[in-house]
Amino acid sequence: MIPTVLVVDFGAQYAQLIARRVREAHVFSEIVPSTISADDVRARQPQAIILSGGPKSVYETPAPSLDPQIYELGIPVLGICYGAQLMAQQLGGTVAATGGGEYGRTTLTRSGTSALLDTVPTETHVWMSHGDAISIAPSGFEVTATTPLAPIAAMENVSRRLFAVQYHPEVAHCEFGQDIIERFLHQIAEIPATWTNTNIIDDQVARIREQVGSERVLCALSGGVDSAVAAAMVTRAIGQQLTCVFVDTGLMRSNEGEQIEQTFVRQFGVELIHVKAADRFFDALEGVTDPERKRKIIGELFIREFETVARDLAGDGNGPRFLVQGTLYPDVIESGSGHAANIKSHHNVGGLPEDMSFELIEPLRNLFKDEVRHVGEELGLPADIVWRQPFPGPGLAVRIVGEVTRERAEILRAADHVVVDEIKRAGLYRELWQSFAVLPAVRTVGVMGDGRTYAYPIIIRAVTSDDAMTADWARLPYDVIESISNRLIREVPGVNRVALDVTSKPPGTIEWE
Ligand code: XMP
Repeated sequence: MIPTVLVVDFGAQYAQLIARRVREAHVFSEIVPSTISADDVRARQPQAIILSGGPKSVYETPAPSLDPQIYELGIPVLGICYGAQLMAQQLGGTVAATGGGEYGRTTLTRSGTSALLDTVPTETHVWMSHGDAISIAPSGFEVTATTPLAPIAAMENVSRRLFAVQYHPEVAHCEFGQDIIERFLHQIAEIPATWTNTNIIDDQVARIREQVGSERVLCALSGGVDSAVAAAMVTRAIGQQLTCVFVDTGLMRSNEGEQIEQTFVRQFGVELIHVKAADRFFDALEGVTDPERKRKIIGELFIREFETVARDLAGDGNGPRFLVQGTLYPDVIESGSGHAANIKSHHNVGGLPEDMSFELIEPLRNLFKDEVRHVGEELGLPADIVWRQPFPGPGLAVRIVGEVTRERAEILRAADHVVVDEIKRAGLYRELWQSFAVLPAVRTVGVMGDGRTYAYPIIIRAVTSDDAMTADWARLPYDVIESISNRLIREVPGVNRVALDVTSKPPGTIEWE
């Protein structure tokens, strides 16, 4: 059994960040709701528990609480921010409104010895975000640090293995934050650092082999990171029993199909069915300009193409019984149920028929995106695939405003290649969330050589983001914009002008449709 830390979620996004920091310390972590009972915790046999921060005050009603029996299980507990205050309040201490509140960088001063903070200097800068503060520690607790507005910024009861910090060791700006988390995990809870890429792979490979036996497995490759890593993991486990399907809609990025062939067929020796369906997609999209109709047409046609392959494979009754899905941990958490989310409807393209009777293999359902990329590298996938920026299911179609035709898709694909190539050349590709080209439905007048032109502009769209829910337009250096612009005009026939999208999200969306 993999040693596990439970991160109890008291709201907002705090728990996810903590869970990721725990994994960076090479310890497996799972997020659980604050309604979890002590019996449930005991049944899961975690090696430690971390209580997350949250947006509420412990005195609000309703405010999320915790089954107090959890403190009695003898499992080490670390309370962070809201989790610290809740621990104080539930164990007989006092939490009070400080009047001021601290937000952002604050000086933390240690006092006395501390099992948790002993490797931290006497004064450090930590990250705070609180209105209330613990004013009286529960009996049996030592106060181990203070800040100007928090008389009890850290406290611990070593014999009961209970620890609490008012600040946020999980945020990047917090000095010695990761050290505290690691000290809690490795020294206090004595959890070994065994959650490594190699162990993740070995564990999944064993599970897949056990689940699948000698049956056949089907996987839809989209060109994206998740499906590629999931397929590579399954290949490592059961090799020749896997059949991959790649539906080329004609709306993919430059070289996507070839790269998949190169990796999965030539490098991994996997059976790949490359469905060249571009003509059917362009026929279906003829004359369609409404964005929602485009998405719907592409989504439905994709499913139909996939069904055709699956039916052909099942021809003699011996078709694949299992289907690989690249579900990630954030999808699992967001669904709240512990089961894979039904991904939002507009993200369903590239999704698969719901009524097909496959058993699912989800080798990434415990992993965060950054872990998926590292596992992918370890599995031997090329960096070009593993570090790819996200790409929407309907592909270039949502970046072609107006009618999607073969010619316009070619213009955009070539333009997109130039944008991405120059962004990579400038060393910016990995730090941008997405960077791509958009083709609007207008043409403008220009002059090239001796002649007048009447051609399309290309819009450069580059954004920074953590999760695509909000995004900011990227401040690209002028010389990068200049080289993109020069190359677009020179290399992409049908383009005579370049513009830059300087809209954040909100109010804009990342894609244009
Ligand atoms: P928007 O444009 O809504 O996009 O700001 C947010 C993120 O989602 C991606 N996106 C999609 N992904 N199917 C997908 O799989 C879709 O239909 C789809 N539409 C948008 C988009 O690229 C961005 O990362």
